[in-house]
Amino acid sequence: STTPLAATPPMGFNNWARFTCVPQVPLGGGDARHYSFQTFMTDQGRAMTASGLAKAGYRTLVTDDCWMERRPDGNLHGASRWTSPRHHGGEQPGFDDDLTAYVATVHRMGLLAGLYNTSGYLTCEYVPSGEAGHQTQDALKFARWGVDFLKLDNCGAPETSLPDLFRAMGDALGAATAGSARKILFDESAPAEFGPSDPLKYESMSWVRGLGQMWRTGPDVATTRIGSDGRPLDDPWLVTDPARAGLDGVYQSFTDTVALSRYVSPGNWNDADQLLIGDDGLTSAEERSQMALWSLMGAPLLVSADLRLMVRDASDPHYAQSLAILKNPGMIAIDQDPLGAGGRLVLRDNPADDAGMDVVLKPLADGGLAFLILNKDDKTVTRTLPLSRLGVEAKSCSLDLTDIWTGKPERIEASGALTVTLAAHDNAAWRIAPSACLTVKPRGQIAIAQ
Ligand code: GLA
Repeated sequence: STTPLAATPPMGFNNWARFTCVPQVPLGGGDARHYSFQTFMTDQGRAMTASGLAKAGYRTLVTDDCWMERRPDGNLHGASRWTSPRHHGGEQPGFDDDLTAYVATVHRMGLLAGLYNTSGYLTCEYVPSGEAGHQTQDALKFARWGVDFLKLDNCGAPETSLPDLFRAMGDALGAATAGSARKILFDESAPAEFGPSDPLKYESMSWVRGLGQMWRTGPDVATTRIGSDGRPLDDPWLVTDPARAGLDGVYQSFTDTVALSRYVSPGNWNDADQLLIGDDGLTSAEERSQMALWSLMGAPLLVSADLRLMVRDASDPHYAQSLAILKNPGMIAIDQDPLGAGGRLVLRDNPADDAGMDVVLKPLADGGLAFLILNKDDKTVTRTLPLSRLGVEAKSCSLDLTDIWTGKPERIEASGALTVTLAAHDNAAWRIAPSACLTVKPRGQIAIAQ
């Protein structure tokens, strides 16, 4: 059989969580009135390369909502203005009419180009450009432009027709790229529409896998809102503000997603939404934990932060540390492990979101395992984890562990325990080398017909 598209979780950048559709200014001055959405995206792409993120694997540059407009003749074009009907902006330019040159620029940087649209009529920013009725025509255009990735949202569509709408787009993308070496990765937001206990959530999980390579599992991860004092208005780790009830903190996105780990396999990824690492809202410990939780889950790693700033101010300790987290080779190897298993929650010693520890375990292609301990408390605690709690069967023997973050080796008896002191919301993570005395208990993965 051939290698599936997205054999390992996609990695890249998405502008949405950090910037939404709000027009930005060029760094270091310059005429803001002429700074286009398209130039902003190529600037982020250039920063992906300059920061070393592209070399570390982050290669897909996704432009989210508001890049497009549908003209009265039915044709989809780049939006002439960087704006949305939800009253953002208006004066700055958007994209070229025809995105061929833009996509070629992205490809010349060694990156892949991703675009956004919605399954229905209006995007979530109310741009009347949706795919309903235009799937074939648009898929041919995306293929002609050389686009590599399409994120299809749910806005503006009646719930009952979701499978039909997503199937029409998936089929159109397949037909438009048949016989071509360049395929279009299909990112489906459909399951995000349904709450964690809604049976329609599980129903959608049964059909999205056959149509595309990744799908959003829950609500939007807390979009950064900065107050007038320049500080974030709320806590993107745990969203508690009722006014933001539609959004998930990073911990909540993890919880929604890890519950669906059995649906993960090569070419089929649960998307827990964008990484807020390198933005201003998370503590360093929380940045480390978002990276570790996403990697253990085998989730796509799509950064949403101002990469231009991370390059310009690379010596700023905050950005230097965030970049080091994003580029940590041990953690990326866990995310990109070729077995493509979704890590599962093996221990949650306190059901509350803000106390106790969570332990996530992921089988690896070499026959070993990765696991992490997350401290959910908002204070430093010392925790002890007997290895027997991992849900692995180990005869009496010593195991070779490596600290995933530091690469430091450690040897421990299978009957022993690990004791760690963890700062608020921080984690510790290890991989266990394959060993004849270690058996992973069956993970009860369900077989799903495609
Ligand atoms: C929805 C999606 C987000 C983003 C916006 C754009 O909220 O979940 O990721 O694409 O729409 O409007």
